[in-house]
Amino acid sequence: MKTLIRNGTVVTATDTYRGDVLIEDEKVSMIATSLAMEADRTIDAKGKYVLPGGIDVHTHLDMPFGGSTSADDFASGTIAAAHGGTTAIVDFAIQYKGQTLRQGWEAWMQKAQGKAAIDYGFHLIITDLPEKLEPEMDALVKEGVTSFKLFMAYRGVLMLDDGSIFRALSRTAENGGTICMHAENGDVIDVLVRRALAEGHTAPKYHALTRPPRAEAEATYRALCLAEIAGVPIYIVHLSAAEALEKVTEARDRGLPAYAETCPQYLFLSYANYEEPGFDGAKYVMSPPLREKGNEEKLWRGLAGNDLQAVSTDHCPFCMKEQKELGKNDFSKIPNGAPGIETRMSLLYDGGVRKGRISLNRFVELTSTSPAKIFGLFPRKGTIAPGSDADIVIFDPEKKQTLSAKTLHMKVDYNPYEGREITGAAETVLSRGKVIIDNGKFTGKAGSGQFLKRKPRS
Ligand code: URP
Ligand code: ZN
Ligand code: ZN
Repeated sequence: MKTLIRNGTVVTATDTYRGDVLIEDEKVSMIATSLAMEADRTIDAKGKYVLPGGIDVHTHLDMPFGGSTSADDFASGTIAAAHGGTTAIVDFAIQYKGQTLRQGWEAWMQKAQGKAAIDYGFHLIITDLPEKLEPEMDALVKEGVTSFKLFMAYRGVLMLDDGSIFRALSRTAENGGTICMHAENGDVIDVLVRRALAEGHTAPKYHALTRPPRAEAEATYRALCLAEIAGVPIYIVHLSAAEALEKVTEARDRGLPAYAETCPQYLFLSYANYEEPGFDGAKYVMSPPLREKGNEEKLWRGLAGNDLQAVSTDHCPFCMKEQKELGKNDFSKIPNGAPGIETRMSLLYDGGVRKGRISLNRFVELTSTSPAKIFGLFPRKGTIAPGSDADIVIFDPEKKQTLSAKTLHMKVDYNPYEGREITGAAETVLSRGKVIIDNGKFTGKAGSGQFLKRKPRS
């Protein structure tokens, strides 16, 4: 099967040029200024960008959390991702206390099997690490689960103590895995939450007021120190506060292999959203919380200057009805998380490239190439080159859309960006050579996504 994409502007992390792209079966086979040949299917990309498919390395599909389960499963979540121009995800499997690490991974493989419409890999959340389980980390790295998420918050649920964190970091120094860190000081936050509730403060905004930026900055600094002592790279997830970014910048300026991602919500929303009337602030209850205005400009600078290397979504949707509502009388019972898997590429293009904050090539790097490199998927994914998977987005830079839960495909009853008008959208999307979004319509198949066995750090 040959597919030819003609007349488009090919954009990678380093180059922008007019070119034709030939796909044979699942792979890109040829790129040239002009390819005059027959193909089974020809797609005219005149006036459009031809981009490597987006890679979202932070999603939570079908995840039990906060007394509920995230509203998108691997079918609805990956179809929504495809609509938005994302062709691969790395989701989080959870090892619950008392389980082996493999049990956690296998449970999530079952959830994805037969449902995922795009390719998927897993990080493993470790919640319990007795010494006897450490060799299993090595075994998982060999099987392509090459990264582990550790939590410095949510005591009694997900949090690990510093000793276990240090042992996990030390193990990845040896086995080539990567630790992704949720950096917030959970014990301090728990005290602040108890105090707020005792004072009768139950509204959603107290979620943010009890998780101060300094609690994120302290944990970020601690995580960086522990990684430095262990002599291993570290990746800070969902970085939200400018003062946490300062810690990452400081570490990188000292030459340490410190990496971090931020998410669109921290670039486009702010603490002010928690002040929306009634219970609407619950829409934005996530951890870390949205920060005061002003933080986002520093994050944009971090993205432009490479102190932040990726933009992922932390897609963890809960409906207002029956899910977020669990915390109607107590903000600490609102399930933490928000939807975003479908809107990441368009939001970042509109707010980043169109507003002149990042270049088009940097946009590709942040949404695809750099996450692929950090998480062992490059060059199979993350670029358009002969031999790479034909995960390709034909992106219309002029297409206008008004974001709304009514028209988006995520299975959640609100959208944090409801009514926002943006320009730039995925029009046609290919996953390993197959058109899965054709002019905005899903033409793929739930279950056609494959598990991605990722490479360890070199
Ligand atoms: O609020 C959030 N971020 N929910 C998902 C779990 C996590 O910490 O990433
Ligand atoms: Zn987290
Ligand atoms: Zn998350």
